[in-house]
Amino acid sequence: MLEIQGLYKHYGKFTALNGLNLELKKGELFGFVGPNGAGKTTTMKIVSGLLNADAGDVFVDGINIRKDKKKLKEKIGYMPDFFGVYDNLKVVEYMEFYASIYGIEGKPAKKLIYELLELVNLSECAGNYVDGLSRGMKQRLCLARCLIHDPELLILDEPASGLDPRARFEMKEILRNLNHKGKTIIISSHILPELSQMCSTIGIIQKGTMVLKGTVEEIMQQMNVSNPLLIQVVEGQDKVISLLKRNPFVENIAIKGSNYSIGFKGNKVEEANLLHSLIENDIRISSFFRQEGTLESLFIQITKEEEGEKIEV
Ligand SMILES: Nc1ncnc2c1ncn2[C@@H]1O[C@H](COP(=O)(O)OP(=O)(O)OP(=O)(O)O)[C@@H](O)[C@H]1O
Ligand SMILES: [Mg+2]
Repeated sequence: MLEIQGLYKHYGKFTALNGLNLELKKGELFGFVGPNGAGKTTTMKIVSGLLNADAGDVFVDGINIRKDKKKLKEKIGYMPDFFGVYDNLKVVEYMEFYASIYGIEGKPAKKLIYELLELVNLSECAGNYVDGLSRGMKQRLCLARCLIHDPELLILDEPASGLDPRARFEMKEILRNLNHKGKTIIISSHILPELSQMCSTIGIIQKGTMVLKGTVEEIMQQMNVSNPLLIQVVEGQDKVISLLKRNPFVENIAIKGSNYSIGFKGNKVEEANLLHSLIENDIRISSFFRQEGTLESLFIQITKEEEGEKIEV
């Protein structure tokens, strides 16, 4: 559905996008995460055709966005990270205005607008002034506006920012619902755990480069490998160190009494092999597990790295 290849964008001497790559399949609900200034909005604006890249290619459903802006606009619904001021405009009038841009008028427009307002739980506010809506309502209205031309790809720049927990929950439900209806969705956020609950895939951008992309499970697995393996040894401590040192996946060992904290770069199978070899050598183990981390700690760890080392998942 979306293919971004080697995207570069400079603002003067500043490099905002530094060879960004991304590939999304139809039906993905993709969480685009990164710290302030990482390049999320820049990427989204380029994909939506609102900003030109300096180099690189973007294909939306096979369409080269440089070559066919008109077709691109039919395919994409873009929700910006800010909401303008709409003096003296009612919710319905606001929607009618956007419908007319796409040539939808009269009865079909009314029907569509009421369906969309229903979808974003705003039916009861149809006659209210836009400027009188709460922030959460405005954001939902903005989403409804993006859906007017029934786009296949939704690009939503921080749709849940500034919302209270209840409004965030509602926004998430609406987006899940849209995804189930077949829309491919990109949502940006600074908050990784929040996206991980609803997104099928997550990408982490740092200084204009995608440093990590995968399913939530893949990312958790990647994170787990960087957490220590914790082993408690009841008997056979004299042999443990030499056995551990012989294992190619052991990177370092810290010992506190009978507790061993091991930097272990192996996967689950290699963990099982290590446990097996310890038991085979008559070492009695009372516990053996990976220290659990959180997605938040992974995010902080990745985005702290100065040059953002590439980790392929
Ligand atoms: N019009 C502009 N002129 C100059 N620099 C810009 C412009 N737009 C963005 N930048 C810079 O490019 C970098 C990337 O900005 P961008 O808005 O894409 O980041 P972001 O990931 O969306 O951040 P945030 O989480 O704060 O929304 C930032 O350092 C920003 O200062
Ligand atoms: Mg932004």
